[in-house]
Amino acid sequence: MKTIEWRDGAVRFLDQTRLPHEEVYVVTRDVTVLAEAIRSLRIRGAPLIGVAAAYGVALEAHGLPSDRNRLGRILQSIELLRATRPTAVNLFKALDRMRLIAENCSGAEDLGRVLLDEANAIRTEDVQACRRISEFGAALLRHGTSVLTHCNAGALATAGVGTALGVITRAHDQGKITRVYVDETRPLLQGGRLTTWELLQAGIETYLITDSAAGVVMAGGMVQAVVVGADRIAANGDVANKVGTYTLAVLASRHGIPIYVAAPLSTVDLSTPSGGDIVIEQRDPAEVTRVAGAAVAPEGVHVFSPAFDITPNELITAIVTETGVHVPPYGLTLAGS
Ligand code: MRU
Repeated sequence: MKTIEWRDGAVRFLDQTRLPHEEVYVVTRDVTVLAEAIRSLRIRGAPLIGVAAAYGVALEAHGLPSDRNRLGRILQSIELLRATRPTAVNLFKALDRMRLIAENCSGAEDLGRVLLDEANAIRTEDVQACRRISEFGAALLRHGTSVLTHCNAGALATAGVGTALGVITRAHDQGKITRVYVDETRPLLQGGRLTTWELLQAGIETYLITDSAAGVVMAGGMVQAVVVGADRIAANGDVANKVGTYTLAVLASRHGIPIYVAAPLSTVDLSTPSGGDIVIEQRDPAEVTRVAGAAVAPEGVHVFSPAFDITPNELITAIVTETGVHVPPYGLTLAGS
């Protein structure tokens, strides 16, 4: 399964809103289609959003005549993509890289090719980072471990084998994993729809739980580790990840269970001092008042629906990146990476 790839001047991506029932791939030559796909979570997960945005810029540049308007068109597409989602820093880092290339090489006849090379490099770096994170993370888990995970931080959320799920599947390959508990992850059910789909394909014993059952699972000694991904990690190690991660971290701390955050350095934002400085995306109320299109709440109710929450660094046992396992004080270890 390739979540996203460049094919003959077009981008082909897997529409994650159709999973797990249908595996539908979309082929587009239009950056506005990619921007909509990111906004609507057809393409989702911090690392994948960055890769997709880079391909979006390459798409816009592809075939543009090298006239006076070319750079302006490319910069416009970058602005369009920047406005899609606010929290995952991978998006902004990838677009900054693309803008730098576009500006520095604006006179190049083959600018489209140069930008595509950069997008491919961002994709390859993510594939390699996922592999290394999986190795470092798997080494933290003991034989006979059952794991709890949240949202989807798997192959679907990256260009590679995933971050948190990369760790879990690698540890499973090493014979260490007994079973995995997956939070369904309301409101958009990335755990229930996507993570379970990936884990079952990997042949891993998987239990789907409601988000509110995580406390029961931990109190009952049913898991020995929590492994999650991240959308942005501040310089001090505070972590923005799918809403509910903070709740898991508090519970894990209460029960003495380690919680590991697995994420590439493209998710680490050293320019953001702490979690309080991270913009948290607010989601459409209809995602909460409806389930699979059916209304489940009375008309007119107010809704508060942050897509992400902040887990303070002191609740996190370790952050696993492609450079290794980082332990507190994160301010020092992350900055040195
Ligand atoms: O809203 P989403 O589905 O894009 O949120 C994704 C998450 O929160 C993931 O845990 C995070 O991006 C890590 S993906 C490797």
